[in-house]
Amino acid sequence: FGSSYIYHHSIDSTNISAKFLAEQGAKEGTVVSAEEQTKGKGRLGRLWQSPVGQGLYFSIIVRPQIPVYLAPQITLVVASVIAKVLNEKYNLHAVIKWPNDILVDSKKLAGILVEMSSDIDRINYAVLGIGINVNNPEAAFTKTDTKYQPTSMFNELKTKINRSELLTTLLAELEIAYHTFIESGFNTFKPIWESYAFSINKQIQVTTANQSLTGTLTGIDESGALLLEINGEKHTIHSGEIIL
Ligand code: BTN
Repeated sequence: FGSSYIYHHSIDSTNISAKFLAEQGAKEGTVVSAEEQTKGKGRLGRLWQSPVGQGLYFSIIVRPQIPVYLAPQITLVVASVIAKVLNEKYNLHAVIKWPNDILVDSKKLAGILVEMSSDIDRINYAVLGIGINVNNPEAAFTKTDTKYQPTSMFNELKTKINRSELLTTLLAELEIAYHTFIESGFNTFKPIWESYAFSINKQIQVTTANQSLTGTLTGIDESGALLLEINGEKHTIHSGEIIL
């Protein structure tokens, strides 16, 4: 990833820019990154604070030849890679809060926003948007979402991180993981994902579009849906949010 690399000093959102380029036919692996985003997007219409020079904000264009219903797996593969790099290379105890948050000490360090364009059964392209709080000082954290306390790598490690080194590592690891995923499917990633899962085998509360459920998070299924056990009964949740 990144052999075609587009860098912006300031942009509304790298996901918006990458989607535009994908529509124009940009090739798989194209990366768009920015020093600052004025309208960084989070999931569920939220804003992703993207102050200049402090975080990593980038989007990767992919064109996966997989059925549309397997698309949620892509987010989980990306999350597994980020958690692995943060743990193994930076000694951070990073965990994945299903489906797309990376937490350290129950505080949000990174987020993933995968956006897709698809026909009925074919993915035309997907944009893998990744935002990481890297060198943000604690004083600069602005809470945009009352549910989360934010944190950054600097805040946790008390040392400045070389952002281009982190980006290079992530792009290399994401490329390897993505190809493994396309060639051999999600099975390789399921145990990795579960090993980094926030609250695995613990009691959690999940809200979905129409209800709130409390149960034990037992893992994810082959499609990437969350498995919740409530009074001995298994429930599968395809879309929703874990409440901290
Ligand atoms: C979330 O936690 O809800 C997802 C946050 C994703 C933020 C990244 S930053 C780079 C890319 N461009 C965007 O506008 N959003 C993603």
